[in-house]
Amino acid sequence: MLWTFPNYPRKRIYNPYRAGGGPSEGFGARATAEGAVDDSVAAVRPITIGEIEAAGVRIAGTILRTPLVKLQSGVPGPEIYLKLENLQPINSFKLRGAANAVACLEAARRSIGVWTISAGNAGQGVAYAARQAGVPCTVVTIETAPETKVERMRALGAHLVPASFDACWEAMERRTFPGVQGTFIHPFDDDDFIAGNATMGLEIVEDLPEVQTVIAAIGGGGLVTGVALGVRARKPRVAVFGAEPETAAPGAASFAAGRASPFPQWQATFVDGAGGKSVFPRMWERMRPVVDGSIVVTLEETKRAMRLLAEKARVIAEGAGALSVAAALRCQADAGPIVAVVSGGNIELATFCELIGAYKEPKGS
Ligand SMILES: Cc1ncc(COP(=O)(O)O)c(C=O)c1O
Repeated sequence: MLWTFPNYPRKRIYNPYRAGGGPSEGFGARATAEGAVDDSVAAVRPITIGEIEAAGVRIAGTILRTPLVKLQSGVPGPEIYLKLENLQPINSFKLRGAANAVACLEAARRSIGVWTISAGNAGQGVAYAARQAGVPCTVVTIETAPETKVERMRALGAHLVPASFDACWEAMERRTFPGVQGTFIHPFDDDDFIAGNATMGLEIVEDLPEVQTVIAAIGGGGLVTGVALGVRARKPRVAVFGAEPETAAPGAASFAAGRASPFPQWQATFVDGAGGKSVFPRMWERMRPVVDGSIVVTLEETKRAMRLLAEKARVIAEGAGALSVAAALRCQADAGPIVAVVSGGNIELATFCELIGAYKEPKGS
């Protein structure tokens, strides 16, 4: 059964910045001086507003402060605003976290080169930041990555090591991959990466102080966690939801179960940038206090959102980038204004045209 948008109660108001956990209280999955990482669930800590603001300053010269534009959808429902992360230099939000994570490395760890695991967008982010820092970058590339993302990572100078989805998902937990050297930049479970993502949350509340709800796609959970941390640092009462496709919705399964859960019916689709096979226990620990739930949308709704964005806003969104808009279109009017994060636009144009061309409005809509 699909999750539908309820008249959600403004239940717990959790402010991570008042709950303790400043920089002096542990270092999460941050590397120690020797390079080791404490990747236990117990080491997860809230990221402070100071870290998010510092990330904003650190990455200001690399990222675009993206516009927030109103969607003139012509469809009845709440006001929807689009945070256009598809306009970033790599056409996805991943540059924010990657730029911050690479910049935060100690010089000795950065100079040996960096590597990550990616279906294409995090890989472009890390490759872009590595090129800027003048260090080599390797990307263990998930088999579902479309050719356009593979080519763009290569064009940014990344050395690519293709691997199966399961091998990559496992390596993300283990933080190693056979034969790959350098300093690992985790594409979502990393304090500095999430602090970079969180800078978007600060921009959202600055541009739309009356925002009621924010929605962002869930892959590993770093985007929605970061956005929630940034938004709620300034506006603790704003609701924040993830968005997932019906074919890959471990976030919704985790919120339903109250614990990190797998999604055994997982299928690969055109939504290649989001939707994992499971929520990692550490990511659940990060997400649970600041995210209100995950809205599951169908693949047809995702195509409809991609088409609507092209038609009404002249925006090209990849499947993962349109999930938030598909989810926002389900919301009730009292959830607005809603900000939908258009998290990426990296899709082959031929595929994009095929997907939106094939979409047919249901009769009577
Ligand atoms: C376009 C896009 N949106 C959303 C996500 C999900 O981000 P996260 O893995 O941080 O949850 C990704 C992940 O790669 C992505 O590429």
